[in-house]
Amino acid sequence: MKIGVPIEIKNNENRVGMTPSGVFELTKRNHEVYVQKNAGFGSGFFDQDYIDAGATILETIEEVYEVAEMIVKVKEPIEQEYSLIKKDQVVFTYFHFASSEALTKAMIDSESVCIAYETVEDADGSLPLLVPMSEVAGRMSIQQGAKYLEKPIKGRGILLGGVPGVKPANVLVLGGGIVGIQAAKMAAGLGANVTIMDINMKQLRYIADIMPANVNTEFSSEYNIRKHLPKTDLVIGGVLIKGAKAPKLITKDMLKDMRPGTVIVDVAVDQGGCFETTHATTHQDPTYIIDDVVHYCVANMPGAVPYTSTVALTNVTLPYVIKLANEGWEQACANSASLAKGLNVVKGDIVYKEIAEAFGLEFLAS
Ligand SMILES: NC(=O)c1ccc[n+]([C@@H]2O[C@H](COP(=O)([O-])OP(=O)(O)OC[C@H]3O[C@@H](n4cnc5c(N)ncnc54)[C@H](O)[C@@H]3O)[C@@H](O)[C@H]2O)c1
Repeated sequence: MKIGVPIEIKNNENRVGMTPSGVFELTKRNHEVYVQKNAGFGSGFFDQDYIDAGATILETIEEVYEVAEMIVKVKEPIEQEYSLIKKDQVVFTYFHFASSEALTKAMIDSESVCIAYETVEDADGSLPLLVPMSEVAGRMSIQQGAKYLEKPIKGRGILLGGVPGVKPANVLVLGGGIVGIQAAKMAAGLGANVTIMDINMKQLRYIADIMPANVNTEFSSEYNIRKHLPKTDLVIGGVLIKGAKAPKLITKDMLKDMRPGTVIVDVAVDQGGCFETTHATTHQDPTYIIDDVVHYCVANMPGAVPYTSTVALTNVTLPYVIKLANEGWEQACANSASLAKGLNVVKGDIVYKEIAEAFGLEFLAS
């Protein structure tokens, strides 16, 4: 199969859909990979790395879309790319269709085969192509939180781990899923006192078993959260109720219970945020202050660490890319129920119910 890897043209997106290692795996199986010039540059991969792995470098995005039977990328196509996508071309990427009617209609019109990373689903309901980005964001939340606790950037002026003779910071992690566990691990590793809250007792039992002694678990309730806030230095918001807006666990009035310079990092900002005062920020201007509490609410945290994010993402997408290339999309989806869940828009029809419902469009059961 001819596979195309274009450069990501969405603002500030430095990730790339395939690493040289992925190219190597495909070319050794006799597939042809066409990579746009400088596509990997933002993630630290050079054209020569791709050439050495067997890829052909193409100058323009138009050439990549023209030659490829399957496009592998990271972000949803933006308007400039709509007209490049061809009939019957497979496009494997994050789409997040439900948040854009324009994108949905453009992909219907293109008559391409759109397989969305975010809806590939394992038998237990987990979303394997979303996990790595939550892992990155969870770990990064502590790195960012630690930074914004510094005084020159309006934080409380406290070192997460303390030093001998000075007690460490208190970190409260709301949500004990992928983000929460990774955040708690990082904070604990730096020596902070960590409390992790969830409403899922099974999950809390698991966390209590695997975490070091400086991580405590507590059931998530308004009462327990209010009790913690006056002594907390850093709060991480990592809750998720599947398919719903995040619950507002910290309301505006609660900010007054926190000490000036407390930092709150709302990783759940992409689902509306779990703090009432959350609004999405960017890496250019990541924080704002309300009632002396520093808010960090960047909606695409993994974008700041493109090398780690690209490798983490392609580690999980590559097996599916190989399957699609070897078997063709129809056979690959017939053989893999997980991959079949990724089918969103196929040759002019919406085949994923929630997307059709989001815009009152027709749904075709696949
Ligand atoms: N900002 C970013 O760049 C970025 C990156 C990746 C993920 N995210 C977001 O982070 C959020 C968390 O993702 P995840 O992969 O960890 O999800 P997850 O499903 O693995 O974990 C969510 C946890 O929240 C818990 N929860 C639900 N309601 C709760 C409540 N009231 N109190 C406490 N816990 C509660 C659930 O029981 C679950 O354990 C999602 O909204 C995700 O989209 C954001």
